[in-house]
Amino acid sequence: MAEAKTAKVTVKGKEYDLPLLSPTVGPDAIDIRKLYGEADVFTFDPGFTSTASCESTITYIDGDKGELWYRGYPIEQLAANSNYLETCYLLLYGELPSREQMADFHKRVTRHTMVHEQMHNFFRGFRRDAHPMATMVGVVGAMSAFYHDSVDINDPWQREVASIRMIAKLPTIAAMAYKYSMGQPFVYPRNDLDYASNFLRMCFAVPTEDYVVSPVLSKAMDRIMMLHADHEQNASTSTVRLAGSSGANPFACVAAGIACLWGPAHGGANQACLEMLREIGTVDRIPEFIKRAKDKDDSFRLMGFGHRVYKNFDPRAKVMKESADEVLALLGVDDNETLQVAKELERIALEDEYFVEKKLYPNVDFYSGIILEAMGFPTSMFTPIFAISRTVGWVAQWKEMLADPQNKIGRPRQLYVGALRRDYLAISKR
Ligand code: CMC
Repeated sequence: MAEAKTAKVTVKGKEYDLPLLSPTVGPDAIDIRKLYGEADVFTFDPGFTSTASCESTITYIDGDKGELWYRGYPIEQLAANSNYLETCYLLLYGELPSREQMADFHKRVTRHTMVHEQMHNFFRGFRRDAHPMATMVGVVGAMSAFYHDSVDINDPWQREVASIRMIAKLPTIAAMAYKYSMGQPFVYPRNDLDYASNFLRMCFAVPTEDYVVSPVLSKAMDRIMMLHADHEQNASTSTVRLAGSSGANPFACVAAGIACLWGPAHGGANQACLEMLREIGTVDRIPEFIKRAKDKDDSFRLMGFGHRVYKNFDPRAKVMKESADEVLALLGVDDNETLQVAKELERIALEDEYFVEKKLYPNVDFYSGIILEAMGFPTSMFTPIFAISRTVGWVAQWKEMLADPQNKIGRPRQLYVGALRRDYLAISKR
């Protein structure tokens, strides 16, 4: 019989055997669940750099090899052969669909693309200059006030309906947030269009002029969505899981994910990256910004570079770079100043000792912003597009968590370094 794998930990002279859990692929994990009860110690891991928070069968990343798989399928193969809705099916149900399954899924998603008419009024409560992410956090959270028939997390049918509703309605909500900020009327979804084309049309059509979607742009948008669809236990997905672990309703959980995604270290990086390229402005100013990025006393970072997990290259960035070339060639914008800065910055950073040594490569957001800008989106829409794309990942992970018998409310402990017990002092004596 094979010997059970364990890790030995010695705490204050006493040895403890901790089980080692083996994944299908990737590093083993030390199971420390009983450590506190037996040894009266916590583990300390701010930022969770060495902590696996759950078991999952959805997405696998090998940061050293630069690999990303959805349900075992490499992202490059999906990007070349699949499309966003098929990828959604794969992430949600674990297998690629048959023709019938795909047709049924397509029908279910497109039937839910409209939002409750009353929601239009809800948008009007926001200022026109609100960031679309702020509007989306509010509106998606408010879905639980509009769709009462799909908030019971203990009913599998309601969980399914809520999941489909979010995947179907997020593009509509993001496009409405955009239209509202532009002072233009909302454009209703059109169910004869594919997912990406429908979103582009809802953003760019106006009542006086329809928007004919270019197949190249639609394919590029579909790819952006596929590449962002899931990314294992990243910050926003962990947020969705943590919120969901208390039994919160799915719309509230995804709203929490959107709020987390907005940060510039996460999904907000695509907006921050393009703004940085514009701030740099001209190629001759690049050295100044590279110098700042290396300066320990300067908080400036090169946005769109580096990743917590990918320490070789970001496989999504590779595919995105190809898309960027196609889109820019189609739109004839392969020569503008921002693009020149981006290309030169990429070249310099890839050769610079500091970036090479710290393994800081352009990530997916470096190229996605360039594509989205060329398509005509303002930078404020970049992160909402990330949110649309990641919704399926959030939902798949949330459903997986609820079905997991090991699921418990997420409740980390802490290393308290505050004051010792002391007595209250009346204000007159302070
Ligand atoms: N520019 C300059 N230096 C950097 C950068 C950067 N973009 N990223 C990391 N470093 C340095 C950092 O200063 C640190 O140096 P030292 O070891 O001397 O203290 C070292 O590299 C390690 O950085 P870290 O902050 O410990 O790494 P992390 O894994 O905690 O952070 C990250 C990962 C993505 C937050 C970070 O690289 C970053 O802030 N990048 C810019 C923001 C960005 O593009 N985010 C999008 C990520 S991809 C989309 C997504 O999945 O959300």
